[in-house]
Amino acid sequence: MSNTPKHLEERKKTGVREYSPTAERNTPPLLDVLTPLWPKNAHILEVASGTGQHAAAFCTARPDISWQPSDPHLAARESQDDWGQDVQGRMKPALEIDVTADKWWRKLQEYDAMFCANMIHIAPPESVEGLAAGAAKVLPTGASLYLYGPFQEGAETAESNLTFDESLKCRNPDWGVRHLSDVKHIFATYGLKLSKRVVMPKENRLLAFKRS
Ligand SMILES: C[S@@+](CC[C@H](N)C(=O)[O-])C[C@H]1O[C@@H](n2cnc3c(N)ncnc32)[C@H](O)[C@@H]1O
Repeated sequence: MSNTPKHLEERKKTGVREYSPTAERNTPPLLDVLTPLWPKNAHILEVASGTGQHAAAFCTARPDISWQPSDPHLAARESQDDWGQDVQGRMKPALEIDVTADKWWRKLQEYDAMFCANMIHIAPPESVEGLAAGAAKVLPTGASLYLYGPFQEGAETAESNLTFDESLKCRNPDWGVRHLSDVKHIFATYGLKLSKRVVMPKENRLLAFKRS
């Protein structure tokens, strides 16, 4: 993987701490939906944590939880560790995780939940399978992975997501807004069933996949 962080926006930086306007905009609705859903005292694994803003926001909103952020890119991990200073050690040092790597979950413990936002459309299609395969390994029965971002939903697909899909494919033919039906099928293959679908602002979706 190249060492260029994958995002599509201008970000401000203070030292190593990055500020994503998209993450900032998405944080309030994500907090509304997810804060009540994290199990008590949960230790949560986040894949593709980006700047680390979501991790810090969840840890602030839920003082009982702890969080394992990760990203393939060093600059992102450094930013995550910096945001972690705001939440008294409840964000663990960021891990290097690339879900397209072979058995990326090998050295990980079990987690009570997983979270991944805005990753699978700017990563190759194999990232969906890698995410599902890892979730099946690190989540116990009954635990959920929460996946946030844009999706195609057949005839229901928002015009904005079709346009976004085209623009992503122009930048990189491996990228694209994934079809919810394909994602659902891949997760089901690994024993994770779609248990919740929440319509979020700007035609995003929050999906819960529960391990059976
Ligand atoms: C648009 S950013 C989203 C960051 C953050 N989740 C958010 O919503 O603000 C996409 C992130 O996915 C990460 N990423 C890309 N390919 C990945 C892969 N194969 N495995 C894990 N993370 C990946 C990038 O490094 C980047 O930080």
